[in-house]
Parts: sequence; structure tokens; C-alpha cells
Amino acid sequence: MSWTTKEIVDQLAKVVEPSRIKIGADDLQFYGNDWSNLSKPNPCAIVFPTSIKEVQAIVGLANKLNFPLVPSGGRTGLSGGALAKDRELVVSFDLMNKILGFNKSDALVSCQPGVVTQVLKDFAESKGLFYPVDFASVGSSQVGGNAATNAGGVNVLRYGMTRDWIEGIKVVTGMGELLELNRGLKKNATGFDFRHLFIGSEGTLGLIVELVVELTNPPKDLNVMLMGLKSIEHTTQVLAVFKEKLDLTAFEFFSDIAMKKVLEGKKLRNPFDHIFPFYVLAEFESYSEVQLNAASESFERCIDFGYAVEGVVSQNQRQARELWEFREGITESIASYEPFKSDVSCRISQTPAFLCNLEEILNGFDPKIEAVLFGHLGDGNIHINLLKPTKMDSEEFREVCKIISESIFNLVKSFGGSISAEHGIGLTKKPYLNYSRSEVELDYMRGVKRLFDPNNIMNPGKLIDI
Ligand code: MLT
Ligand code: ZN
Repeated sequence: MSWTTKEIVDQLAKVVEPSRIKIGADDLQFYGNDWSNLSKPNPCAIVFPTSIKEVQAIVGLANKLNFPLVPSGGRTGLSGGALAKDRELVVSFDLMNKILGFNKSDALVSCQPGVVTQVLKDFAESKGLFYPVDFASVGSSQVGGNAATNAGGVNVLRYGMTRDWIEGIKVVTGMGELLELNRGLKKNATGFDFRHLFIGSEGTLGLIVELVVELTNPPKDLNVMLMGLKSIEHTTQVLAVFKEKLDLTAFEFFSDIAMKKVLEGKKLRNPFDHIFPFYVLAEFESYSEVQLNAASESFERCIDFGYAVEGVVSQNQRQARELWEFREGITESIASYEPFKSDVSCRISQTPAFLCNLEEILNGFDPKIEAVLFGHLGDGNIHINLLKPTKMDSEEFREVCKIISESIFNLVKSFGGSISAEHGIGLTKKPYLNYSRSEVELDYMRGVKRLFDPNNIMNPGKLIDI
């Protein structure tokens, strides 16, 4: 980019109040980064629009002067999708954070992209409803970012991904046009649904500037059962038994190393007498004796078949939350080990075979590198976090992890799985996209990118190059 920061800021100041343009070193560092911490952020400036008109003006300017834009929500992504490292202008949606309207009979809420996920969840609750997409970063992530990355999380098994709750979006394309897509319609058979191209496009086609989100009825009396298992195959066998009788809201698994790190990191008491190789956590509604009986019958069957060895079940909401801590505390408890993250998926029916192959692969590498396995087994999503041994240099660790990753991605490919189930492609997974998408698909993706963003100003370098 040939423009100086001053020249860009001067031009921007003609379309946005100067107080909403920031160039301070701390701001550049903060707004230019995401949770991937992949490399040093180096944006040229940050702009905080407050209206769709301003967003259009910013995009217009970016086209005219040919400078790149990086959209910025809560920046909780783990793949570098919101990282601005090449003097891009960061467009932050922090000030476009209003709930705009709600209609009870439609159960639809309209909001700006900068609404924090937890705020949307609280709003739904205040209306006696429920926004079901749930994951660890709901307190910081923003609804626009969730849509741009098609965020998943712990409730996908029952409720699907973000895409399933977006009934309409307004987007400003890479050319600066405003598109209003689907307008909150439940039924709409009028050809290509561009809404779904923008959802999950990681800001590479345009900027999401407004959303219509569907809410639903809240689940009643959630109960949690945590079980200790002897082997990896048993995880999916337990899932099959529980699914037969219960409509689960979540089914998570994690390995012994994950449990050890959480017990240490969160200073929790082990609910069992010893450490098991694997754990599963099943969550289900229990508003009547029927579900409670079904859960105990399922558990007994798992014990009889030898799938589960021990189990604890919550008796109230507080205990349910405490049991979730063993699963939800994993990411935080391993953060100090500079984890190298993979986030893969395969068909649920194939997870037993996948997990056995995965164990073999991991056993073939340096045993000093601990692999923490966990994830949303109920929807076929497995997180593999490799931990840096204290004595290994960070650079060497990353190089070894890349080799391990390639073996994992080859396995994913052989299962027809996905190299990114829910964390997105961003920068970290971009070189491996062809493990999950064919060359013809990638060509079509490039074509779509060229269509909506011919000057390549929208988050260039992320997801796919044109
Ligand atoms: C989770 O499910 O806890 C996160 O998506 C996984 C991660 O932090 O790697
Ligand atoms: Zn996850």
C-alpha cells in the first residue's frame, strides 16, 4: 500500500468523525490482534463507524485509494482471521452494538454486528426466549463476528451452528453496495441465498452490518452427567446409548491429560477416585421423570456393556455448572503451554475409527509433546491441542507441530472430514484448505471472492487468495 497513515487518516476524517479514528500504539496492538496471537499486529489505523452509511463510505474510500480492510468484532478467533499485520485499516464494530428491534411472534431480533454474544443471550432471556449458540468466548465475541465465522460451540448437536439462527443479514460488499439478504423470512425459494455465502466467509466478501437473529424456547432443567471411560472407542459407544433415549443438548469428551491440567489449573477436586483415560459429559433436559429415568437406564446400560466405569450426575443447576467446568476449563488451563491447536471433524459415525487412527498418529511422535484431546464429540468435532514441553524452544515446537498437523490433516482427508470444524481458516489453516475442499471448489470460491470483492480489499490474505 503506497499511502501513508496520515493520508489515509485525512481521507477517513472526511467520512467519519476524527475522534473515531485511532492510531495510538496500544490501540493498533489491541485491535490489530486476535486470540491466535499468530504474529505481531501492524495495522495502519482503526476506524469505528456508527452507521451503515459510514461503513459504505469507508469501503468506498478503500476501493478508491486501494487499501485493505480487516473487519474486527470481539477478535476471539483462533485462526488469525482478524489479525491485521500488513498495514490494513481495521474496521471495528464496537460502536455498532445496538439491539434494533424485536418481534415476539416472529421470535426475531434485529441487531447491529457489534452486539456481544452474551448481551444477545441476556436479551433473549429477558423476553423468555433463548439464543442457543454457546461457546467459551460469549462474553467477548460479537454477533457479527460469529456470523462471519459461522461460530459453533457446545450446543451444535441440538441447535446447529450460527448459520442456523441467522434469518437475515445486511452486508456491504467489497464494492460498497448494500445488500439486504433474506429479510427475516422463514421461507424463501427465490434462488441463490447469498446470506449463506457471507456467513462463514470470514470478512473476505464484505462486511456484515446488520443481522436478524432467530430465538427459540429455552431448554428446561438441564442436567449433566460426567462419566469416566477406559478407552477412546467407548466415547462413541456411550454417545450411541444416550442418543437412543434422550434428545441431548450437548455431548462432550476430553482426555486424561485435559482432566489433569484442569484439576491443576482450576484447583478443582476430582469427582472420581482416580484418573480415567477418557471422560464424556452428556447434557440433557430433565423436566420430567421420563428423562431422568432414561438417563439412569442409559448410564446403567453403559456400565453393563463396560463402556463406562463410573459416573456422577448433577442434582441441581449449581452442580451442573460445576461439572461443565471440567470441560470448559480446558482451554484456559492449558493456555500457558503455548498450545498448537487443531480443530477437525468427521462424520459422527466415523469418529470411533478416526479417533483410533488419531491416537496411532500421535503415539508416533515425540512423547514429550503432550496431546490434549477434547471437543464436541456429539457433532463429530475433535480439538487436538499439542502442548509445548518446557524445555523445547517455541520455534522448534511449532515446526514439529506442523509436521504432526499434516499427518492429522491427511487422516482428516482420508475420512472426507473438515480441517476446520468451527475455528475457521483465517491464516493458520489457509495452506491446508485443499485437504478439505477440491481444486474445482477452490476455483469457485475464488470466483465468488472476485465477484463480491474484485479489488481484493476485504480481509485479503485470509481464507483464500484470488
Ligand atoms: C472449545 O471448544 O473449548 C474451543 O473451541 C477449543 C479450543 O480452545 O481449542
Ligand atoms: Zn470448540
